[in-house]
Amino acid sequence: MRIKSNDCHAKWCLIKEIANNAYFYHIQAHGITVVKPTDEVVLNAVDLTLESAVLKGDKELKPIEIRLCSEEETATFKFPSAIDPGVYSLDIAFTGEINDKMKGLYRSKYINEKGEEVYAAVTQFESTDARRCFPCWDEPALKATFNISLTVPQNLVALSNMPVKASKPAGDLIRYDFEKTPIMSTYLVATVIGEYDYVEDKSTDGVLVRVYTPKGKKDQGLFALEVATKVLPYYKEYFDIAYPLPKIDLIAIANFSAGAMENWGLVTYRETCLLVDPQNTSAASKQWIALVVGHELAHQWFGNLVTMEWWTHLWLNEGYASFVEFSASTTSSPSTISGHNSSTTPLELDSLKNSHPIEVPVGNPSEIDEIFDDISYSKGASVIRMLHHYIGDEDFRKGMHLYLTRHQYKNTFTEDLWAALEEASKKPVGDVMSSWTKQMGFPVVKVTSKPSGDGNSVGLTLSQSKFTADGSKPSENYLWMIPISIATSKNPKKGSGQYCIKNKLLHITVPDVEPSGWIKINPGTIGFYRTQYPPDMLEKFIPAIQNQTLPPLDRLGLVDDLFAMVKAGHTSTVEVLKVLKAFEDENRLQCVVVYRKHLRKVRTTVGSHRLRERYQKQLLRKVYRRLGWNQNEGETHLDTLLRGLVLGRMAWLDDEDTIKEAKQRFTAHLKGDQILPADLRSACYKTILRAGGKEEYDTLLQLYRSTDLREEKDRISRSLGAARDPELLKKVLDFAMSEEVRSQDTVFVIISVALTPVGRGLAWQFLKDDWSIIVDRFSGYLLTRLVKYLTENFASEKMFTEVDTFFREHKSPGTERTVQQAVETIQLNTQWLNRDTPAVTEYLKSN
Ligand code: BES
Ligand code: ZN
Repeated sequence: MRIKSNDCHAKWCLIKEIANNAYFYHIQAHGITVVKPTDEVVLNAVDLTLESAVLKGDKELKPIEIRLCSEEETATFKFPSAIDPGVYSLDIAFTGEINDKMKGLYRSKYINEKGEEVYAAVTQFESTDARRCFPCWDEPALKATFNISLTVPQNLVALSNMPVKASKPAGDLIRYDFEKTPIMSTYLVATVIGEYDYVEDKSTDGVLVRVYTPKGKKDQGLFALEVATKVLPYYKEYFDIAYPLPKIDLIAIANFSAGAMENWGLVTYRETCLLVDPQNTSAASKQWIALVVGHELAHQWFGNLVTMEWWTHLWLNEGYASFVEFSASTTSSPSTISGHNSSTTPLELDSLKNSHPIEVPVGNPSEIDEIFDDISYSKGASVIRMLHHYIGDEDFRKGMHLYLTRHQYKNTFTEDLWAALEEASKKPVGDVMSSWTKQMGFPVVKVTSKPSGDGNSVGLTLSQSKFTADGSKPSENYLWMIPISIATSKNPKKGSGQYCIKNKLLHITVPDVEPSGWIKINPGTIGFYRTQYPPDMLEKFIPAIQNQTLPPLDRLGLVDDLFAMVKAGHTSTVEVLKVLKAFEDENRLQCVVVYRKHLRKVRTTVGSHRLRERYQKQLLRKVYRRLGWNQNEGETHLDTLLRGLVLGRMAWLDDEDTIKEAKQRFTAHLKGDQILPADLRSACYKTILRAGGKEEYDTLLQLYRSTDLREEKDRISRSLGAARDPELLKKVLDFAMSEEVRSQDTVFVIISVALTPVGRGLAWQFLKDDWSIIVDRFSGYLLTRLVKYLTENFASEKMFTEVDTFFREHKSPGTERTVQQAVETIQLNTQWLNRDTPAVTEYLKSN
């Protein structure tokens, strides 16, 4: 049997108030084609009560049984005899509940202008939760058009993917009929019903854009409105395809599990991912908001217009959107975003034995949930970036246009994208890329050099093998097709030629090299691989790091690779600490972020506490002096972000001056004498709490309660883990679980506790004690985040066994891979600690 629906009429009626929970529904699916005789019709449904159904063809057929299977998430209609092939429509009457689970059709609680607790009704269907709202064939490849009607109380705003076509009173209520949608996947259908204000504008290409905010806060939507109206025409031009719907709404939702969701024409956001309050929003948040808006709007083409065939190809959606969000948002709001988009983050995860290939077989909903991870997003974006560099922007655009027009309103496999890009570029895109998307992990390129006879050029031998986190010999014989470029001190920015390693080894000659100059593989850290240099080549980078003639992204990549070599046991931590000395003049945010991230790891695992602090302070001293506490006229966006980071670090390293200044500024802030710039607040809050105690904790809680800006609440609640006193930290954990913290934020407050050595044990104990409550309350990515951050920083045999045993006894679908990754990471930490602690201690003592 194969059944395909391509026209769906859904009417739902909210009886009375959303708070009452129940809704009536009626859905008619037209154009259902029965291909082979069958007496059963199966579709997806979860937590719905199906009242009755009629199948209408030449005559009307009623099922003799409607069977629900909660495990399979299906409803089966059994008919008295076989249905003949032909075209039918199916009418189903049913009821459902507006749930509190942040999936399907759910209620979102907020305090209105009058101070009352009220609810909005909101949908979140990706990946497999449309079936919680109405019975349907809930798979991305089964596209249908939707005619949606909502009958709701008159004072509420009702939105859906399309604009309203007509409205009419229905008793005390009002009924809205929306225009028919284009043919689309179920996971992108959306509705929102609640009290909202909005601001609106038209993009230069004529699309009506509205940003919906909580009532009385419409000004907070202006920033996102500006970004959205600029990003839409950017994509239109980039893809050479117009946005296909007449309108797009962006709406801030009080209770929202993810960051944002790209529903076609009605994009939903967490408040902190959309709203900007000029006085209280930090530069970091604004940057994030611009990126999230850019990301979700990219999906309107990449994902909504052209959709993956099955969730195995999810990365096409998320990897691609993560790749373009950056250039789209940078072009549209250059003053908000600066820096780069080279990401080294997924490399660490992808070197584990428990990583997974980008294209991964998935079946049930919990398996699908689990792949919304760094591999699909960041590795996905990285391999596309590498490809973009390999074929060049012009051919890349041509290929994208071809792909999107060829497959519009349809579904694709990863190969379809390669085919279009191959056609546009005439390069072997499919061969190169499948080695990256079908194989797990990535290569390390080992370099050896030999001066050639002419004294002017250098011969390099490059060899590839799979990089393993623990330094073991890879069991499988993996090979990648690696596009390689090379830069030299004479030519630091431009790769001096493009090569491709196809086999184990590649010999090349690099011309025009200064005798004392450096040669850098992977300039700009665009390629998704690591590089291992011999000591003589590595040494040549040192002066170029010191005087910063080695470009920032190369400094960043170099440090990141070095730490990976250390953790894998190929070199000693001491060697990297020596190289890091060359970073004392480092000024670039991204570089500081990366070395800081690794030193934090060193701190949680290896070496003694006091000594490490002295070393780190020395490293930060110059940049700390340069930036100071006050924003300089005309300073770069990067420096503004860097200041918050550096001050936070210095305070964390118990720097007396920083702590004193933070206290003074916090007091002035409280008094209202001098408001702290939003960018420094996190650092200040953590500092005063770490240096203080119960009194400071109470003050921060008061601040938390007095603000109604979610960003500020987040900032405060995520600083609470900085307290030192275990008794206070226990209070923080209780607070995280209390009514005062929205359930989508709880996880991040608990994580803030787990990030310090004292808090780590407490948070873990808490997870064990409250495990049943936790799995009941959180699922999907909130749960996997929690599991990851509460476990992966341990570094002992004992904790390895404890974590491993606990999760063997407490399995939860959708967390399996995360647990395996965490357990593997604990083992790596333990080995690292055992291997390097004595040498690091010795080094730090003598320096
Ligand atoms: N499609 C996702 C939303 C989503 C995530 C649905 C997980 C179901 C499960 C959306 O496009 C997205 O990627 N959102 C990100 C923000 C983005 C800027 C990285 C998110 O929610 O974190
Ligand atoms: Zn996305």
